Amino acid sequence: MSEDKQPVSRRQFLNYTLTGVGGFMAAGLMVSPLRMAIDPVLQKGSEEGEFVNVQLAEDDITNEPQRVDWEVEQVDGWYESTVSKSAWVYKDDNDDIVALSPICKHLGCVVSWEGSDEYPERFYCPCHDGLYYKDGENVPGTPPTAGLDVYEHKIDNGMLFLGKAQPREEA
Ligand code: FES
Repeated sequence: MSEDKQPVSRRQFLNYTLTGVGGFMAAGLMVSPLRMAIDPVLQKGSEEGEFVNVQLAEDDITNEPQRVDWEVEQVDGWYESTVSKSAWVYKDDNDDIVALSPICKHLGCVVSWEGSDEYPERFYCPCHDGLYYKDGENVPGTPPTAGLDVYEHKIDNGMLFLGKAQPREEA
């Protein structure tokens, strides 16, 4: 019976050990960036695009724009937060519901219906005197260069649900 057992030299032992430990550390370092890169993609859709019950009954929507506020949970990668949202809601002359974003298309301030006594029947932006008509189109000659975004909406069980605010299509 021959003894084939080869003794491991000190140099080989160090090589195996360092290679193993180095590989283990490299794999550990790669896991976190890979997860960050891939995981958000694999997650199911966020609240964006989903319709939210804004607690306004269809019967309570009049021809006068009224502001509705609500909150949504937002997930951005691993960061979860509560985001406040608002809309100006009314029924137009055809009794169709209109839901406008209050975010000014100039530099993002918040507009209000009849926010200035000087401009009745207009959405008013106090930051640079921006004006919009009731349908949300910008008044020419004022800073905003586009109309207010329009929320997707639907009625379910008599309640108003709002989705994503979409930019208007260029004429
Ligand atoms: S941000 Fe509204 S007019 Fe400038």
